[in-house]
Formats: sequence, C-alpha cells, structure tokens
Amino acid sequence: MKKILHISASSRAEDSASYRLSQQLIAQLRKAYPEAQLVSRDLWAQPLPHVDFQYSNALSRHPGGTAHANGLSSLAWSDLLIEELKAADAVVIATPMHNFSVPSVLKAWLDHVVRIGVTFNATPEGKIGTLADRPVYIAVSSGGWRTGERARQPDFLEPYLRAILPTIGLKDLHFFSLQALAAGPDATTAAYAAVEQELANHFRA
Ligand SMILES: Cc1cc2nc3c(=O)[nH]c(=O)nc-3n(C[C@H](O)[C@H](O)[C@H](O)COP(=O)(O)O)c2cc1C
Repeated sequence: MKKILHISASSRAEDSASYRLSQQLIAQLRKAYPEAQLVSRDLWAQPLPHVDFQYSNALSRHPGGTAHANGLSSLAWSDLLIEELKAADAVVIATPMHNFSVPSVLKAWLDHVVRIGVTFNATPEGKIGTLADRPVYIAVSSGGWRTGERARQPDFLEPYLRAILPTIGLKDLHFFSLQALAAGPDATTAAYAAVEQELANHFRA
C-alpha cells in the first residue's frame, strides 16, 4: 500500500470524534504499511464548490457553458478529485451524521467523484463502476443511536454510502461507528468501548 487518501467531513477539525476515529484507522493501516504516504483532503479547511452549470451541462450532455468566473471550474475540481481517488490504495473517510445523512461537504465531494462516463457507466444492467476496488474505511460519529435497537432515527448515511461507493467500483467498505455521543457520559464511554472492540476485531483478523 503506497497511498492512503484521508477525507474528513467534520467542521470540528481535530476535536472531531469522527476525525479522531479516522486517525486510529490510519494508525492501524500504517502499522501494516509504515511506508504509506498520507494524502489529506479536509473538506472544511478547503471547501469544494458545488457542482456548477458547466459540470451539469457536461454530464447531462447539454451544450453551452463558459469558463467558471473565479478559480477552478467544478469540472476541473472533479478531474482533480477523481485523480486523487484513483491514486489511493486505501481511502479513510471521517464523517459525522448530519440530519440523518452525510454532511453537505461530503455530498459535494461525492457529486464530484461520481461522474458518468468517467467513474461509472450507465448500462442496460444499471450503473457500473470503473474504479479499481480498494479498501474504504469509514469512521462515522453521531449524537444519537444510529443503528441497533436503541436507534430512534432513520439512518440514510450508511445505506447511502453502501449504495453510492459501489456505483463507482468501491465495494470493499468497512464501517466503524461512534454512536450516541450526545446521550451522556455513560453512553459515550460505551460508544468508545464498542468501537475499540470493532477496531480490535477488524485489525486482529
Ligand atoms: C447540522 C448537524 C446535524 C446533525 N444531525 C444529526 C442527526 O441527524 N443524528 C444524530 O445522531 N446526530 C446528529 N448531529 C450530531 C453529530 O452527528 C454528532 O455531534 C457527532 O458526534 C459530531 O461528529 P464530529 O465530532 O466528528 O463532528 C448533527 C450535528 C449537526 C451539527
């Protein structure tokens, strides 16, 4: 493994629970692959533009569109982010749950990398990914319980990522969760104990 791409989607930088969990995942990967280079894409430190009309026109095969008024067009961002993803041997994503789903900054990244004719093709059999598969580790944090019998909210985050990432060819997904971090100290202690166990089970195997 030569390159690990780290995508972080929390606004709380290094105080973020998902970020800290993703650092544990990176540390585990580096134990096995000490020479691996880390490429960081902090979606808050350097916010991505939403996909613009040029990108939408290109993808939906509408003619027209002139260069973006300021900076990189979102097509250029898309090219750059797809190259970054292609170059990675493993991907680590840190994401909190926002309103039952992924934060908008992570959705913006997905809109750039899930691109028809580039990272997937639409075929009569459905959308077929073109990227080579590689492991994707996803660190998820949430204020409430997101899964299991105590969950009192719908979870569109994990099912969404389990649907969208394989669409571009990334099928080797590994989720690690810190749940109920806003449910008091006992729940927080239990959440950290549970994720330590998940990490031990996964990386011992
Ligand atoms: C805008 C916003 C929306 C949120 N929506 C949810 C939600 O739908 N469900 C939930 O359990 N927690 C929700 N939370 C709480 C965060 O998921 C929780 O605080 C998480 O631990 C933050 O992770 P971080 O430290 O990595 O940023 C929300 C927080 C914010 C700021």
